[in-house]
This record gives sequence, structure tokens and C-alpha cells, in this order.
Amino acid sequence: MSAPAPGRAAAPGVPTVRPRWPGQLVLQMQRDPLAFFSQAQATHGDVVRFAFGRETVYLLSHPDLVRDVLLTHAQKFHKGLGLQRAKLLLGEGLLTSEDEAHLRQRRLMQPAFHKSRIATYATAMVDAALATAGRWRPGVELDVPAEMARLTLAVVAKTLFDADVEGAAADIGQALTDTLGLFGALSLPYGELLLKLPLPAVRRFRRGKARLDAEVFRMVSERRRDGRDRGDLLSMLLAARDEDGQPMSDTQLRDEAMTLFLAGHETTANALAWAFHLLGENPRVDAALQEELRAVLGGRRPGPEDVPQLRLTTAVFAEALRLYPPAWVIGRRALQRVQLQDGTVVPTGALAVLSPWVVHRDARWFPQPERMQLERWTPEARASRHRFAYFPFGAGTRSCIGEPFAWMEGTLVLAVLRSRWQLVPGPGSAVHTEPKITLRARGLRMRPLTVHTASD
Ligand code: HEM
Repeated sequence: MSAPAPGRAAAPGVPTVRPRWPGQLVLQMQRDPLAFFSQAQATHGDVVRFAFGRETVYLLSHPDLVRDVLLTHAQKFHKGLGLQRAKLLLGEGLLTSEDEAHLRQRRLMQPAFHKSRIATYATAMVDAALATAGRWRPGVELDVPAEMARLTLAVVAKTLFDADVEGAAADIGQALTDTLGLFGALSLPYGELLLKLPLPAVRRFRRGKARLDAEVFRMVSERRRDGRDRGDLLSMLLAARDEDGQPMSDTQLRDEAMTLFLAGHETTANALAWAFHLLGENPRVDAALQEELRAVLGGRRPGPEDVPQLRLTTAVFAEALRLYPPAWVIGRRALQRVQLQDGTVVPTGALAVLSPWVVHRDARWFPQPERMQLERWTPEARASRHRFAYFPFGAGTRSCIGEPFAWMEGTLVLAVLRSRWQLVPGPGSAVHTEPKITLRARGLRMRPLTVHTASD
């Protein structure tokens, strides 16, 4: 008999999901992790334990426990399985690095995400949305997630590399897709063994990664020679100096650029796609949104200064992030035994799993949770809610550095597109959640109808 894996120590009193046959939970998690998590919480409560291959997992679904893991005891945890494997692609970038290395990078990168700097990216966001709106034709059905992915890729290419999506960035986008194809499988138990096999997907992963590296290194060395501030994120990263006056190395720049490229577009694209899905299903909310856009913008191009007035538009994005959080699961591995506020002990080596999907759909924090309700986002409603009942961007020192970027992009893109087009569900469209690295909207096809604005 081999010794028990770390984290396998008995935890008396913790409700446990037991498989009916070996491998059942892994299969269920692969098939429909959202349903698995929701059922586990509904049946067993806010703390549930289960085995996932060699791992012991604690699903924690109370906002107090979210705060415990992400804030109070944050230093006692490292990132979970998926992000550890993501190091293969992202190296020691902000998303994947830990402890001192993370802190140093976070300090270096924070100025690039300062509010004043984000405002300068608004032009790229609005330009990309206008280009998208200009491509649509009345009544011609759209693959909404693909449209949003193209749009947010253009935004990240412009704001990160000052590049046009049709050029280098499109190549990077394709290489990323090839590389990411393997990622879901890598996060499964024993997934690391996959890389040792001569599979086509593994070859594509390696080729894609080599292309990405080459492209980013090329851009970095070009910039170093040129030395100009091009107003993009890469210029900020090149100019950043730590307390000892040291710049980032080329490898560090590559890791950070790749991290921002990856973290910065699929998440926002999915949130936008789900926002249109929700609007399609809630015509009254959609009409209220259109009214706001007419009153605030009257058909003109929005800018960052309009965002505070676009309250309903922002609330639509907030509801999309609540009901369909792109980061549907956030995992942490305990570096030591951690006792949480309610007495739960997460043993050394175990995985603590927090699911925004589960917590955001809990009627204790969001009455009638399945319904889209913009009133949830008034200042009063927000103030009366548990601070950690809503965490689409995580929390604490590892929270999303791109959060202000995402709010600006989500609000401006919705404002531009919905001012010009109304999207209605395509005939017979059946939309499914597809929880990959981010939460995708499979089968979301909608038809654009022209909106007549004052400036027409
Ligand atoms: C709706 C859009 C987005 C969502 C829902 C989202 C969500 C998240 C979440 C949940 C985390 C924390 C993960 C964890 O704790 O394990 C995170 C981290 C991060 N996000 Fe985002 N994100 C979004 C957009 C962006 C954008 C636009 C960028 C960059 C331009 C970005 C860059 C990052 C980075 C670099 C981290 C790592 C931060 C750190 O650990 O210090 N994200 N994001």
C-alpha cells in the first residue's frame, strides 16, 4: 500500500460526496462540473469534500469562506491545478507566479492598469466595437461568441501591442487557440502525462507555444531598439523599474505579455456574449437599456467620461458576470493546515475550490437568483449584500488586475453595439454553458435588427 496522498487525512464532520463507482466523480466533473458543484452544495451545504483522482477537494460556498481563502489566509495557499499547469505556457507571469515573485511583478504592473491609463484604452475599445457593428447586416444570423472573441482580440492586440488584429495579433490568436486546445485535458488528474505522448494535440501545443514565443520576443526586441512609448501596455511594461531600478528581463516580459493576452480577451468576450444572451431573453431589460443609451448618448460615440452615466449598461454587464462568471471556478492548494472561520480544516495539500457560479446563484445573497435584475446593482443593494457574495474577479492580492479594464470594455462595447443593433435569439437557437478554461456560450446564435438613432 502506498502512503496516503497529502490532504487525504480524515476530516471528521465534513460532508463528503462519495462516488458510486470508481471514477464516477471524475466523469461527472468532466461532463458537467457546474451541475456537480451546484448539486453538491444543495445536498451537503457550504462545505463539501470529494476526491478528484489523487486530489482531495473542498468546495467552499459561503462568502465568509471565500473571504477566508482569498483574503484572510491567502498566504497559506498557492494556485490550484489548472493555473499550475498554465505555467507551461505563461511561465512566471502575474497569473501563475507565487509569493515574492508575484508581489514584485504586481507592483511593477499596477501603474499600467491605473484608472487614468485605462481611460486611454477606451478609444481602442470603441473603435473595435464600431468595426464590429459595421460588419453586421440586418437579419443575418451571428455566432455571438465568435463575434465577441474577434472584437476583444482586436482590443487586446491594440492596447497591449499597438498591433492590428489582422496582422501579427491574428497569428498570435491562432497560435493561442492551438495551444489552449490541450489545456482542459492537462488539468485532469494525470494530465501532465499527456505531454509525454506523441499526440497531434501535443504537437500543436508545442508548435503553437514556439510561435507565440517567437512573435512576442520579436516585438519586445523591436521595442527595445525603438525605445518610444507607443501608449500601449507593452510600452508600460518595458518602462517599468523595480525598487532597485531594474527593468523586466525579456523572459519576464514574454511571460507577462502572454498572460495579459490570454487573461484579457476570452474572459471579456464570454461575458459580453452572455450579456447579449440575457438581453435577448429579457426584452423589458433590453428596452430599458436602449432607453438609457438613447438618453445618455443619443447615437453619438461614447467615451470613458460617459461610463458613470451608463448605469444600466454597467449593470447588464454585472448581471452577465453574476449569472455566467467567466472564471467559474477559482482553486487554491493549501500549503499548510488551514482552519477556516467556521472551524473547517483544509489539510495540507488539499484543494480549496470556490465557485462564483454557485455563490452567485445562491438565493441567500441574490433573491430569485436565476432572474436578470438590474436593481441588484443600485448602490443601496450593493451595500446591503455580503461583500464576498460576488467575486467574478476574485479577491485579495490575487484579484484580477484587469478588472477596471474589463468594466470599461464591457460597458463601452455594450453601449456601442446596443445603440446600433438589437440582438434577438436566432430561430431554434439552443444555448448551453460550456465550462472550459472560461465559461463559454455554446450555440448562441442571434439576429441583429437595426436600431434607429437620433443621428440616423
Ligand atoms: C470579464 C473579464 C474578466 C474576468 C471575469 C476576470 C477574472 C479574473 C479572476 C477571477 C482572476 C483571479 C484568478 C484567481 O484568483 O485564481 C483574474 C486574475 C487576473 N486577470 Fe482577469 N478577468 C477578466 C479580465 C481581465 C483583463 C481584461 C485582463 C488584462 C488586460 C486580466 C488580467 C488578469 C491578470 C494578469 C490576473 C492575475 C492577477 C494576479 O494574480 O495578480 N483579466 N482575472
